[in-house]
Amino acid sequence: MTASPPAIPSGRITAMLQSERARFEERNPCSGALAQRTAAHWLRGVPMHWMVDWGTPFPLFIEAAQGVALTDADGHAYVDFCLGDTGAMFGHSPPAIADAITRQAARGLTTMLPGPDTAIVGELLSRRFKLPFWQVTATASDANRSVIRWARGATGRAKILVMQGCYHGAVDDTFVTLENGRPRNRPGLVGEVRDVTQHTAVVEFNDIPALEKALAGEDIALVLAEPVMTNCGMVLPDPGYHDALRALTRKYGTLLCIDETHTISSGPGGYTATHGLDPDFFVLGKPIAGGVPAAIYGWSAPVDALIKAYLGNREPGYSGIGTTLSGNALQLACMRVVLEQILTDDVYGAAMSLAESLQAGLRDLITHHNLPWSVVRVGLRAEIVAASQLPRNGTEALLFAHSEVEHALHLFCLNRGVLITPFHNMMLVCPQTRAEHVARLLDVLDHGMSVLSSRPIMRSN
Ligand SMILES: Cc1ncc(COP(=O)(O)O)c(C=O)c1O
Repeated sequence: MTASPPAIPSGRITAMLQSERARFEERNPCSGALAQRTAAHWLRGVPMHWMVDWGTPFPLFIEAAQGVALTDADGHAYVDFCLGDTGAMFGHSPPAIADAITRQAARGLTTMLPGPDTAIVGELLSRRFKLPFWQVTATASDANRSVIRWARGATGRAKILVMQGCYHGAVDDTFVTLENGRPRNRPGLVGEVRDVTQHTAVVEFNDIPALEKALAGEDIALVLAEPVMTNCGMVLPDPGYHDALRALTRKYGTLLCIDETHTISSGPGGYTATHGLDPDFFVLGKPIAGGVPAAIYGWSAPVDALIKAYLGNREPGYSGIGTTLSGNALQLACMRVVLEQILTDDVYGAAMSLAESLQAGLRDLITHHNLPWSVVRVGLRAEIVAASQLPRNGTEALLFAHSEVEHALHLFCLNRGVLITPFHNMMLVCPQTRAEHVARLLDVLDHGMSVLSSRPIMRSN
């Protein structure tokens, strides 16, 4: 038996964090000045309050982004592996999307009516994702909220079920956690007045007996799940888990929604196509319009029959589903480009071999530095796990997460011109990523790990 690598002394992590924070402040005077200015008029100084959750002393202000290249307000250049946490996973402003935006801008952006791309995009969606019926929303959060409502309407059941540690966007119904085996509202929810557990059950991913127990009451309308959990760290499904999930949801009359917003990294048809899943609903947000706000949800023919029957008997009035700008002409024009030109085997194939080499490079670094870590990858998306083994469920993933290490590595990379996510150090390879970008990331991480491990660097440059 080989001994586990030793834990990193906490003083070393704290020292790295302190010196990287100081370096960030010194390096970014223009971002610092902008942060002081924006504090006067924006909540927490930013147009979306969570932009300050990056662990930097103040936000980095981005001047421009193109492909994998970012430039900040101080003129530093970065290679981007964060890619807007998937919103820009096909690269920033791909030229074909920029062209579609320009073309559509001259022809009207939003009319509350269908337009010339509607028919073709519907056909492309159904061909690509193998479901016949579709709707467009502005965000994946909206898509998930809509699916929950349709599923409740279609089944006549009130409850849904989610996985411990999940995130499906700003969707109130999903913010439930297991604490000592008991469900409760997630801590920290701003202004939530409801006991969300009344209508939402929560179980651990990969726990088939718990899933069956929860579904057996036959009162659950929908299971909403990512095929691989990606928001508490990454949790892979055990072999056979998805078969069991599908069989049990069918057995107890529960609909199944697979949220592919992050796992579209698996391939052009998402994890669903790559692994032959057969969901009732399918959700995909973030990159589906190349960075223009849009999301889609689709459903099967049997679900469509349920929905139509439900609509036939429903009282007249607002549906409570949909927003004014959803399904607009700009979204459709950009989705058409993504479906026709980007979600293709060729585009994914080239990026995938780079993602594999990134994973291999990360493993070599971890071994060389004898760190108690591992690497997990779902297609184009790789992460370092701050534990020697991979988590099997959300609770383990949250336990294994080491936010100081994550922030220290993120800052170390940022200060040297490479961007990875500050939370679980996610690295996304995109069609514009090249071998030299991956080499650069591995070189910088080699130096960062050498600070944490006190070992010499592995790579020569
Ligand atoms: C799996 C998943 N679904 C949905 C969402 C919500 O996306 P948006 O914030 O674009 O609404 C996210 C956001 O991270 C996500 O990870």
